[in-house]
This record gives sequence, C-alpha cells and structure tokens, in this order.
Amino acid sequence: MAAAAGAVMASPLGSLAAQDSRINTFKQSSNMNSEGELSTAESKSNTAKKVLLINGSPRQKGNTNLALTEAAKQLEKHGIASELLQVGHQAVHGCVACNFCNATGHCVFDDDLCNRAIDLLAQCDALIVGSPTYYGQPNGTVLSLVQRMSYAASKVMQNKPAAAVAVCRRGGASAVYQTLLMPFEMQNMPIVTSQYWNIVYGRTEGEAALDAEGLQTIRTMADNMAFLLQRIHADGTPHYPQREPWQATSFIK
Ligand SMILES: Cc1cc2nc3c(=O)[nH]c(=O)nc-3n(C[C@H](O)[C@H](O)[C@H](O)COP(=O)(O)O)c2cc1C
Repeated sequence: MAAAAGAVMASPLGSLAAQDSRINTFKQSSNMNSEGELSTAESKSNTAKKVLLINGSPRQKGNTNLALTEAAKQLEKHGIASELLQVGHQAVHGCVACNFCNATGHCVFDDDLCNRAIDLLAQCDALIVGSPTYYGQPNGTVLSLVQRMSYAASKVMQNKPAAAVAVCRRGGASAVYQTLLMPFEMQNMPIVTSQYWNIVYGRTEGEAALDAEGLQTIRTMADNMAFLLQRIHADGTPHYPQREPWQATSFIK
C-alpha cells in the first residue's frame, strides 16, 4: 500500500468524472421571499457562504435526503447555499492507514468520492453529514468516507461548523448521531446543535415528512448554523481562536 508521493491508487470502482454527475447543487440563493426570512443585511453577509451536505444513504430520495433538504431549504432562507453529495449508492474504500495523505492532504485512493469531497469541503464553510441508521450504526459507506476525509483533510475541516443528522425507523439513531460527531469533535469543528438531537424518524422513502418535530429540529439546527456562520464571518473574514500546537502523545508517553 506504500504508494509513492504524488501517485494515487486506482481500483475498479468507476471514474471520478462519472461520480461528479451525481453531485447536485441546491439552488444558490441570496435574498429570499417576504415570509419572515432574514434581513437584507444578514442575507448579504451570508451570500457567499456554502454548506456541504453529505448524504450517506443509498436511497437518493429517501428520508436522509428529505432531512438534508429540509436543512438546505432553511439555510437558503438565510442566504446560504448548499451542495449535496450522494454517497451511499457508491463503493467507497475504507481507510488503509497508509499515511499517504500526511504529505498530500488527499487520499491515496483517487477513484471514489473522498478526494472530491475534500475539494468540495475546501470550498464550503460548514458541513452537515446525514446517515440512515443501519443496525444502530451509520451506514458503512458514509462512515468510511468521513473517516478518510478526517484523516486526510483535517486542515480543511478545522474550524468549520459541523452537524450530524441521523434517520431511523425505530431505534439506534442516537448512536449514529454520536458516532458521526466523533471525528468533528476532535478537529476543532464547532458542533451545531438544535432543540433536540438531529434525529428524524421514518421507514419507507419519504415517510420522514410525517415527523413534524424531527423536521423542526433540523430547521432549528440550520438556523443555528446560519447564526454561527454569520458570527464567524461577521466582517467578511473568518475569525478563529488561536490555539497551542498539538501535543501528541500515545496516552502514556
Ligand atoms: C440494512 C438496514 C439496517 C437498518 N437498521 C435499522 C436500525 O438499526 N434501526 C432502525 O430504526 N432502522 C433501521 N433501518 C431502517 C432505516 O434506518 C430507515 O428505513 C431509514 O428511513 C432509511 O433512511 P433512508 O431513506 O435515507 O435510506 C435499517 C435499514 C436497513 C436497509
């Protein structure tokens, strides 16, 4: 697995170009309608802001998509655009701990979504990752993707507000929610919360539309994310805390 720096590994998973066509962009917006949305001033300051939405579900029109779309629509009311990356219907490698990314900031596997996701996130100001609940865990592909992004592109993730969204039929979503947040919590990403955990209930495609409280929770999370982004970028330049250099130990030494 020791690839030479500059080289990337390929596998028979399909070209990145083909995957690009599965990346959808929500309508970019600036000023919204007159139904109680934010002031012109806030819309203006948020015009250039964009949030990357990652949908782990293989069901592109499923409940995770529905929850993320609810977030995107709410962000849009604040003048914040979103970009949606569909993950779950594609093959995604797991991290092979080759450390190629230490030198490059990109994953050694260049034939799936990971490097594309890193490059997209570099152009975005915040991240929301949504996953269905599979046996009380995030679905495998989104977990692989987020682990590889985190290992390869910590610098890109640092300081960007992040939220997790978990969807389930009946149980296990709180474990999914916590698992998705773990990498964000160790990369100085402000976690965006809501009035409740960002969990939505539904089984068949679209059923989550019936979960009024769940969707309200998602909208409130989006409001909070917009608030945070607005404060971080208040004068047009992002302001982040000064931090000590990392003191890395292996627990005992
Ligand atoms: C392999 C698999 C495992 C699942 N495991 C759970 C589970 O542990 N708990 C649960 O409540 N729902 C479980 N579900 C149901 C999904 O989480 C639920 O249908 C969800 O709405 C799917 O989201 P999606 O439409 O975005 O794909 C499972 C579904 C599948 C396909």
